[in-house]
Amino acid sequence: MNLTFKTLDDVDLVGKRVLIRVDMNCSVDPETKQITDISRIEAIQETLQELQRSKVVLMAHQGRPGSDDFISLEQHTEVLKNLGFNTSFVDDIFGQKAKEAISQVKDGEILVLQNVRYFEGELKKAPALEVAQESLVQELYPLFDIFVNDAFGAAHRSQASLVGFTTVLPSVAGRLVEKEIRTLTAATATEQHPWTLVLGGSKVEDKVKILSRLMSTDRVDHAVLGGLIGTLFLIAADMIPETYSKPIKGFESAIETARELLKEYPDVLVLPEDAAVEHDNTRHDCSFSEMNNDPFLDIGPATTTKYVKLITESAVVFANGPMGYFEKEAFAKGTSDILDAIADCKGITVVGGGHMGAMAKKMSLDDRITHISTGGGATINFLTGKKLDLVVALESAAKRMDG
Ligand code: 3PG
Repeated sequence: MNLTFKTLDDVDLVGKRVLIRVDMNCSVDPETKQITDISRIEAIQETLQELQRSKVVLMAHQGRPGSDDFISLEQHTEVLKNLGFNTSFVDDIFGQKAKEAISQVKDGEILVLQNVRYFEGELKKAPALEVAQESLVQELYPLFDIFVNDAFGAAHRSQASLVGFTTVLPSVAGRLVEKEIRTLTAATATEQHPWTLVLGGSKVEDKVKILSRLMSTDRVDHAVLGGLIGTLFLIAADMIPETYSKPIKGFESAIETARELLKEYPDVLVLPEDAAVEHDNTRHDCSFSEMNNDPFLDIGPATTTKYVKLITESAVVFANGPMGYFEKEAFAKGTSDILDAIADCKGITVVGGGHMGAMAKKMSLDDRITHISTGGGATINFLTGKKLDLVVALESAAKRMDG
């Protein structure tokens, strides 16, 4: 497959000052604030190894403002050290402190900047040339020779750190971006059916929008829903009361789209049929009429049976987002049963997103799943056929580099 952008093979990196944007957005324990899974950090190792004769400054985000996992990148720096990289951390992004630390970086060293989303301008989403005007880009780009983008998980975000630098620096993809694009292109090239999407987890506003785009491609035969996105659709279908919308951020803006999708694609959307709720700190499997306003934390056994059948009989399965509150062991059952079914499926299977990917690895299912993608939203966006913002930006950079 010919790539439309440049990679590490196309540039001389020795002795160069390299700014790299990665996605090492990890699962974080909401109570202890400790990282619970490091697979996204492990996934960037190949690129970092190839940069071992360069002066590397690493930029990344963790969580979103206001979320439980919106933490500093100090822990990530420690993980990189434990993986054998000569890494240090600076609690600044583009101020004087960061600039001084950047000027001290030597060949073979990696300096990790603070969580780039601590800078408000990073949250703006706009075309590359516009976000390139943000002070983050304007202050930092003169300090570097090359920009490497290896943040596949955030490839669908047109934000300053992801696409801004590509307008002002020679810019190439890292090995992870290259591998993900190659693998996902191959996995989506098939015309085989039934084609099943398994969609769970939170980030409901994003997911309902992307579901809408994906449905209009006619690719999907079954979209089986769980997690908070499943809860949203159950409320939209009047199958459970609106009181269950409480944990759903962005419920108001997502519910209308969910209702429209239910009207337009009643045979494609597959909703849970029963629930697992928490009562007296214990899991109770029950019908919707027996939920008694207890927290709805997982899909129930009848739902699991139905989903397992659809998944194992599919020719292609793409999965993103857990079926329930998997952080509590009793409510991880729906997600682990679904992952077992994905591993049993004889077709092409892709599991994406930090949480589900990590769980698949923990369950040692990796070699029975075609591809475990580091992308959640990025992977689902890829499926719609629309070019990812990161790819568009790297393509423009490649044209500029070729003069
Ligand atoms: C992800 O976890 O999907 C990526 O890191 C992107 O994060 P975001 O959805 O907060 O932009």
